[in-house]
Order: sequence, then C-alpha cells, then structure tokens
Amino acid sequence: MSEAMSPLVWIDLDTGVDDTSALSCAIKLENRKMLRIAGTSAVCGNTTQEHAFRNTRNVLAALGRGDIDVYPGAEKPLLSDLRTAAHVHGENGLGNVVLRESLAPEETDMAWDALYAAAVEAEGELELILTGPQTNAALAFQKYPDLKDRLKRILIMGGAEVGGNVTPAAEFNIWEDPEAAEIVFKSGVPIVMCGLDVTEKGLIYPSEIEELYAHDSRSCRLFKETTAHCRTWYASMGINGLHVHDVCPVLYTVFPDLFTGEEAGVFVETRGYITRGKTVSDRDTDVKFGVKNTTVVLDVDRDRFAKIFMDLMFED
Ligand code: RIB
Ligand code: CA
Repeated sequence: MSEAMSPLVWIDLDTGVDDTSALSCAIKLENRKMLRIAGTSAVCGNTTQEHAFRNTRNVLAALGRGDIDVYPGAEKPLLSDLRTAAHVHGENGLGNVVLRESLAPEETDMAWDALYAAAVEAEGELELILTGPQTNAALAFQKYPDLKDRLKRILIMGGAEVGGNVTPAAEFNIWEDPEAAEIVFKSGVPIVMCGLDVTEKGLIYPSEIEELYAHDSRSCRLFKETTAHCRTWYASMGINGLHVHDVCPVLYTVFPDLFTGEEAGVFVETRGYITRGKTVSDRDTDVKFGVKNTTVVLDVDRDRFAKIFMDLMFED
C-alpha cells in the first residue's frame, strides 16, 4: 500500500490504558507507511479531560511522536455528569503511572474545530477513529452540519450487539454519553462498530502478555507499566488475559480481513431505564430499521490479531 493511498485517520481518545495501546499501534502502522495520522484529540471518559489530554500528549511523547497534534475536547458528556472508570484505568487514566511531561506546545483549538479543519483539508478522505465516548464527535456534527459529507467513515470501539460491561445492556463508551452516540449513529456517515462482540474475542493471553512485558520497546515498556493496575481488576472479573478493546478499530482500518462483520441498522437507546446506552442492532431481527448505517464487527481471527498487535508493539 503506497503512503499516498494509506488511510488518513483522526483518532479521538479517552486515554486510558487500551487507548495507549491503540496509539502505539497507529504510530507503528504510520512508520510502516500503512496509515497516516492527521491528528488526535482527547475526550473525557475513562478519566477527566485534563488527564485524557495530558495522557495523550505524554504517551505520544513517550513513544517518540510528541510531534503529533493533540487537541483538547469535552470535559463532560452532552447531558449527564462524567462517570470515569478509575477502577480499571486508575485515577489518572494510565494505571496511575506518571509519565514525563511532553515538551510539545499545547494545542488550544478545541477538538471539534480541529477535526473539522482536518476533514476539510482531507477533501473527503479522512476517517475518524473513536476509542472513547463520542462527545467530541457529536459536538463537531452539531457545530458543522456539513461534516457528515466530509468524513469517509467512522470506526468506533463501542457498543455491543449482545451484552455490556457497565450494565447488562451497555458498553462503557456508549453508556457514558448515549446522546452523543445517537448523534454519531444518525449522522449518515458509514460506521464500523467494533463492539464488545469482537473486542472481547481479541483477548491477549497471559503468555502473550508476558512476552510483551519482556520486550524492551517503548511500546512494550509503556504497556507493562500501564496495564499493571487493570490486571487486578481483570483477574477479579475472572478474565484470564487482557482486552485491548481500542486496538480493534485501528487494526480494522489497515487489516479489515482480520475481522468479520455484517451490515445492519444500529441506533442508540437514550431513554431506557434499564437499556440506556444500548446499541440496538437490527442485524438479526425480523423488524428492521430500514437503513444499514453500520458494519457490525462480530469476530476476529484472534491468533493473527494477537500476532500483528505484538509485532507492532515489539517495534520501537
Ligand atoms: O468498554 C471499553 C472501552 O471503554 C474502551 O475504549 C476503554 O478504553 C474504555 O474507554
Ligand atoms: Ca477508550
């Protein structure tokens, strides 16, 4: 794939532990000229906007890519109060690891303005990767009605056809800001949904984790430091390994053949007492929404996924 044809992406993250691995992979894919990173932005979710912004900057700097722009974004969801995931990602969002401060100048433009400018400049080629709650994207669609015509597609880590990891019905990124997700799913931009249906199948096994911990690349050192805290939580949940949820949409962008999915209509429940934050898919239902706005990613070749992930993390 020539560099000129490689996908051009904007990554919006609530950095976060698995967001950190997603950034590692994106940088390595850019090094291989298989991806181009137009910019990144921080959204509240796993942690506060302050931590997410600072973490994204410092992770990029730790990976030698402090040159990649990071724009600040929403400090709270559209309607509800912020509820972080400190039990998984630590109080500061990085497993309570304190990284050296990035020396890059701090961007002051807001995420939604910078994203829109990048979409205009990319002339329809920009793909948006969302690995956190979709608040920044929703605010961009609200402020710039023509953004929907300027994005090639949106790849998300979020949602689930079946189940949830915050309630029995909802996955964290959608649960945190269902109103924002509803705006994104109704935008008309084609969506690739890497929900729990597939991200929980992309489990990294303990033996693979130990291999990653033993490698002395910057990515692996960062992985080892930042995952220590969440492994306790994973073990308490009876999960023998680690989910690298946010890596999925990044790898899907370059290696879609790793995954299988089906087109469907997907929209978000925003009012349910029990189901608020559920991504409702009509893939397997008698009654249909009448529009197929989403590729619901359902499965992954786990062994190939893990090998590609590890090979990328091993590279310095
Ligand atoms: O449900 C998993 C998602 O929520 C991941 O993006 C993780 O980083 C958290 O944001
Ligand atoms: Ca995330």
